[in-house]
Amino acid sequence: MSIRHHLFALSALVCASAAQASVSDNLTYANYDQVKVDHLYLDLTVNFEQKSLSGFADLSLNWLNDQSQDIYLDTRDLIIDRVYAKRADGKWLKVPYNLAARDDVMGSKLSITPSFKADTVRIYYSSTDKASGLQWLTPAQTAGKTQPFMFSQNQAIHARSWIPIQDTPAVRMTYQARIHTDDNVLAVMSANNDPDTLRDGDYSFDMPQAIPPYLIAIAAGDLHFKAMSDQTGIYAEPYILDAAAKEFASTQQMIDVGEHLYGDYQWGRYDLLMLPPSFPFGGMENPRLSFITPTVVAGDSSLVNLIAHELAHSWSGNLVTNATWRDLWLNEGFTSYVENRIMEQVFGTERAVMEQVLSVQDLKAELKDLPVEDSILFVDLKGRDPDAAFSGVPYSKGQLFLMFLEQRFGRAIFDPFVKTYFTEHSFQSMDTKRFVTYLKQNLLAKHPGIVTEQEVNEWIYSPGLPKSTPNPTSDVFNKVQQQIESWFSGSISAEQLSTEAWTVHEWLYFINNLPLSINLQQMAALDSAYDLTHSANTEIAHAWYLLAIKANYPEITAALEQYLISIGRRKLIIPLYAELAKSAQGLTFAKEVYSKARPGYHPLAQGTVDEILK
Ligand code: BES
Ligand code: ZN
Repeated sequence: MSIRHHLFALSALVCASAAQASVSDNLTYANYDQVKVDHLYLDLTVNFEQKSLSGFADLSLNWLNDQSQDIYLDTRDLIIDRVYAKRADGKWLKVPYNLAARDDVMGSKLSITPSFKADTVRIYYSSTDKASGLQWLTPAQTAGKTQPFMFSQNQAIHARSWIPIQDTPAVRMTYQARIHTDDNVLAVMSANNDPDTLRDGDYSFDMPQAIPPYLIAIAAGDLHFKAMSDQTGIYAEPYILDAAAKEFASTQQMIDVGEHLYGDYQWGRYDLLMLPPSFPFGGMENPRLSFITPTVVAGDSSLVNLIAHELAHSWSGNLVTNATWRDLWLNEGFTSYVENRIMEQVFGTERAVMEQVLSVQDLKAELKDLPVEDSILFVDLKGRDPDAAFSGVPYSKGQLFLMFLEQRFGRAIFDPFVKTYFTEHSFQSMDTKRFVTYLKQNLLAKHPGIVTEQEVNEWIYSPGLPKSTPNPTSDVFNKVQQQIESWFSGSISAEQLSTEAWTVHEWLYFINNLPLSINLQQMAALDSAYDLTHSANTEIAHAWYLLAIKANYPEITAALEQYLISIGRRKLIIPLYAELAKSAQGLTFAKEVYSKARPGYHPLAQGTVDEILK
C-alpha cells in the first residue's frame, strides 16, 4: 500500500470514528459499538409486597467486532444474583461480573467478562423498591381498592432500574416476556396483548418489531378490556373503562388519518392503558399500548390531542427514533406537528389552530424563565439527567420549525417529504446532524431558493425563536380577547361574558390571557359566575389555580389541596408548586400539602417536587 493509500485509510478511519462520536450516547455505559443486544427475553415475577420484579433476563448478542468479549450494561439499583453465558456450542457457563459504584445520573455499570465470546447472557436479578422507573400502588391507593397496581415509565433512562440492559435509544431489540402475577391481576406490556387472555397470573408477550429499551413497558393491576374498534381498545380499572372508551372513540379515525398522511401503521393493534392519576406524564407512547393519564378523561373529548400525540409517535419516535436524548426534538417536535395534523383532519382547522396558539403561548411564557442554552433544539444536556433538562422546547419549538417548513414549501411538497423520511428510516435511529443532511439534500436542494441552510441551522443550533417563526392566530381567540378587554374596561360584567358556546380551549385562552393586574374582586366575580375553582376539567383548573396563586386569591385553597393530592401528572402539579414556592406563605402551604401528597406520587414527581420545596 502506498503512503497515500495509508493516509486515505487513516483519514477514513478517523472520519468513521468521528461520525460514531457525533452520535454516541454518553448516558449509557454500554459498549454498543462492539456488541448489540438484538433480542431480550424476560421471565419476571411481580412481587407487590416487596415492590420488586425478580427473575431473569436473557440478552441475545450480536457482535460487531472481533476484538472484544466483554459486555457492559446499564443498571440502577438492581440486585444482581448471578450471571451465565451461552457459548457458541450451546453450553451455559457461570461467568464473572462486576457491578460498579452507583452514579446518580447513570446508575451502576454492570461488566460481564466471560472468557469467550458469548452468544447469549442470562442475568438473574431483582429490582428494588427504589426503582426510578416503577411505581407501586397498594390496593388502597387505587380507585377500585381491591387489587394493587404497578407500572413502568422507562423514558428517558429508567429501563435500567428494572432491566439490566443497553439503555440507549440507539440500540433496538425485539423482546418476549413471561410475567407471573397474583391470579386476580392482569399484566400488560408494550407488545401483543391478547384482549381475551386467560386471567390466571401467567402471561406471555411477544414484541416482534425491534424497539429501543425506553419503549419496553409493563403494567399490572385490576385491568379490564373494552374494545373501541377491531384495532383499538381500552385497558383500565373498571371505574373508568366505559368513560375512557367513550372519550377516546375517535382513536380509530386518528389512525386512519395518520396512515393516509404518513404511511402504514406498522404495529398491529393500538390499545390505550389508563393509568392511576399518579402517572407522571400525560401519555407515553409505548408501542401497541400507549399509557394514558386519567386526567384527560374530561367527558367532552376536549383533551384528546393527547391521544393524537401518543399515536403520532407510532411514526415519529417509535419508527424513526432519536439516537440520543440530545435529539429528543426529533421525537417530540415531529410528534407535536403530526399530532396537530391529525387533530386538524379529525376535529377541523379551527380547533387545530387553537391548540397551536395555546402551545405557542405556553412556549413563550416558558422561554422567559428557561436558561438560554436550553432553548436550543439540539440541546446540550451537560451531564444532566434528560428528565432534569425537560422543557417545552423540543415539543413546541420543534413543531414551529416544521410548521415553518410546511408554510414555505407548501403541503404538496412537505407532506410527501415527511412521509418518505419516515419510510426510509423505519426502525432506525436518527440524530440531528444526519437529519439536517437529509433535509438539505431532499428538501432544500430539490426545491432551491425557498429556505436557506442558514435558516435551518438557526432553527436547530441557535437559542430562542428565529424571526421566521410562524405566528398562528385564531379568530375564535381574537373574540375571546375582545371579551377580556370589554370586561376589564368595565363595559360588561363577569356574567355578561358570552361564554355559553365556549369550548375548553376558549376557557384556557381566557384564563391564560387575563392581565396579571387582575384584583381579588375580579377573581371573585369570575368565580361566582363560573365556579372555576371547582372546574372538573383538569387543564382549566390548573390554569385557574396558577392565576389564583399569582393573584393571591385565597378561595382556591381547599380545592387546590385536593387537586395536588389526587393528581401526580407533572405538567399539572409542578408549575403550581413552583409558583407557591415563590412566597413564604405559599411555601408553607405547599409543604403541608406535599407531606400528604408525596406518598402517592411517582418517584419522578417526588424528585422534582423535593427539589422545588427543599
Ligand atoms: N414521550 C413523551 C413523554 C416523555 C418525554 C417522557 C420525555 C419522558 C421523557 C410523551 O409522548 C409526551 O410527550 N407526553 C406529553 C403529551 C402532550 C405533549 C400532548 C405529556 O405527557 O404531557
Ligand atoms: Zn411525545
